[in-house]
Amino acid sequence: MTIATAPTLRLTRPDDWHLHVRDGAAMAAVVPHTARQFGRAIIMPNLRPPVTTAEQAVAYRARIQACVPEGVDFTPLMTLYLTDNTPPDEIRRARDAGVVALKLYPAGATTNSDAGVTDIRKTHATLEMMQREGLLLLVHGEVTDPAVDVFDREARFIDQVMEPLRDAFPELKVVFEHITTRDAAQYVAEAGPHTAATITAHHLLYNRNALFTGGLRPHYYCLPVLKREEHRRALVASATSGSAKFFLGTDSAPHAAHLKEHAAACAGCYTALSAIELYAEAFERAGRLDRLEGFASQHGPDFYGLPRNASTITLRREPWTLPESLPYGDAELKPLGGSETLNWRLVG
Ligand code: NCD
Ligand code: ZN
Ligand code: ZN
Repeated sequence: MTIATAPTLRLTRPDDWHLHVRDGAAMAAVVPHTARQFGRAIIMPNLRPPVTTAEQAVAYRARIQACVPEGVDFTPLMTLYLTDNTPPDEIRRARDAGVVALKLYPAGATTNSDAGVTDIRKTHATLEMMQREGLLLLVHGEVTDPAVDVFDREARFIDQVMEPLRDAFPELKVVFEHITTRDAAQYVAEAGPHTAATITAHHLLYNRNALFTGGLRPHYYCLPVLKREEHRRALVASATSGSAKFFLGTDSAPHAAHLKEHAAACAGCYTALSAIELYAEAFERAGRLDRLEGFASQHGPDFYGLPRNASTITLRREPWTLPESLPYGDAELKPLGGSETLNWRLVG
């Protein structure tokens, strides 16, 4: 008799290069999910009020660390929220405090972005300093002009903001965050070595039909919004291409369920609970599980100039069902794909 053992997959411990953990009781509910899978995560600064100074970032880091379960080795990598008024002096303080990047939110583009940049030219002195001090610029790449169709806002950002930005600061490392279109994938692939992109699991797994299947489904609503199937395919091709310019960034963005199931549903999908399993699903469907480790564990640290993690994680091919709902402070949190079955499970 032979005993069939389920296939397993061992990877260098991955990192999440784009993550929202919020603050307070919400943060305490979500940080353990990320810490169990990832060695590090880039923490987004779009709190209310936003994290705009080195001092605030240091305090926020300590609050996050206090939510990491005993015995778990997890490092939050901090970012500052770039505003029209971020003083160039703050960049050196940020670097000294261990902050690795600044985040550009075009004003009004997404959740908690009211304090964002109104005109990139206002930030040139600060970008100059970042280029000199080696801090990265992470961008939410969508124009905000209400006259531009929501589905075209990322593509328009490329010519209106990215290209002039790259010309003005050729040495600045720029990450085009959570890309959702073939246009962005192509732009990044053809750009110089200082431009890279993160890709979420949900943009690899779903196209925009997911928003409308059997009714309006707010848990699939995020920004940039899901796009057509041809774009999803282009993202899968980029993520599984082996190119070091593309790496894992979940953009896991928790919102209380009652604010998602609302007349004006908040943008953001919660994927941190099962992030690496969702990516394994997407890579397996593409027949490229062999390229998951590069995307999840190598390209990110290489681009940021950080060491790869020394420890590993293990996934087993074992179907399991995602919970429909999780506690979230006094509210509920509905993970993306809740009640659906995943084929890979993190076992160690
Ligand atoms: C993010 C959030 O909720 O903070 N939402 C989202 O839909 N992705 C903000 C962001 O990353 O744009
Ligand atoms: Zn964003
Ligand atoms: Zn985000």
